[in-house]
Amino acid sequence: MEQKLNALLAAAKAELERAQGPDQVEAARVRYLGKKGELSAVLGGMGKLPPEERRAVGEIANRVKGEVEALLADATARAQDAALDAELKGQKLDVTLPGRGRPQGRRHPVSQTLDDIVATFARLGFDVAHGPEVEVDWYNFEALNVPADHPARDMQDTFYVDGSWLPKGAGPALLRTHTSPVQIRLMQKQPPPVRAVMPGRVYRKDSDVTHTPMFHQVEGLYVDKKVTFAELKGTLDAFARAFFGAGVKTRFRPSFFPFTEPSAEVDVSCVMCAGKGCRVCKQTGWLEVLGSGMVHPNVFRHAGYAPGEVTGFAFGMGVERLAMLRYQIDDLRTMFENDARFLAQF
Ligand code: PHE
Repeated sequence: MEQKLNALLAAAKAELERAQGPDQVEAARVRYLGKKGELSAVLGGMGKLPPEERRAVGEIANRVKGEVEALLADATARAQDAALDAELKGQKLDVTLPGRGRPQGRRHPVSQTLDDIVATFARLGFDVAHGPEVEVDWYNFEALNVPADHPARDMQDTFYVDGSWLPKGAGPALLRTHTSPVQIRLMQKQPPPVRAVMPGRVYRKDSDVTHTPMFHQVEGLYVDKKVTFAELKGTLDAFARAFFGAGVKTRFRPSFFPFTEPSAEVDVSCVMCAGKGCRVCKQTGWLEVLGSGMVHPNVFRHAGYAPGEVTGFAFGMGVERLAMLRYQIDDLRTMFENDARFLAQF
């Protein structure tokens, strides 16, 4: 029996070395290892052997079976390689074909503009600070000297949110309507001087062609001994020229905010018509770009600064508006649709 098994192994080996293609390998497997194959036939005779011999022959049979299986695996791998080679020989590879392009993403125009504004003030010596988007009434209104009956506090204008998670008496909670509350948080955290810009999202119950319920602002605050209105003008004029170009002019118009006194709105000469008058500036030659003023003494008091010891100026600007002016975009909604064809242009 041992001889028969060795002969079987030799025959299988010879056949598998010659085998070409998966069909021939499979035929060899059936012939040698199949249920009705040669190994089964040899093992069928084992019953007649005396028990001592049976074990020895069993061991040999297992070894032969293992070796045939290994030969089959080799032959299968060779057959697959050969099939692949044949397939590749039949193909033509044109190495001159252009590659597949990978569409490139870009930073959103609002992000680019926001980063530019912050970087411009950083060059003027301003730090960067952040505050929470979910605020409480005190920081968003009260500390900023906004009176109890001010229309901005109305449910119509402000998104109030569930404040039951706040410590007792800390609420009401809301989504900040401007970045000005970060002024208070910053002054509470550090003694003067303070010179920082505070970018972020703000929320208002507004939704039409020129207003979205969420937009971005950059707040600015400069507090020190003897900060003057002239410094406010110089700083914002320098910003306007850095951001819009050296040829741009600024104009300061008296205005009102509860948290600044005096207050001024800042216009820049129209970036489309250079001040001649066009559709964008409604023939005025000027575009309003930000609100500003000298910090109100009550704001200092609420933040824990002594109004007699320091003065300061503050300003706030809308990032979407500045992005639209800079890139000459005339529809605010395109900023929020995230149409890749639109965004690819910036
Ligand atoms: N917070 C004001 C707004 O949202 C802008 C502003 C900031 C005005 C600081 C003056 C000083 O319109």
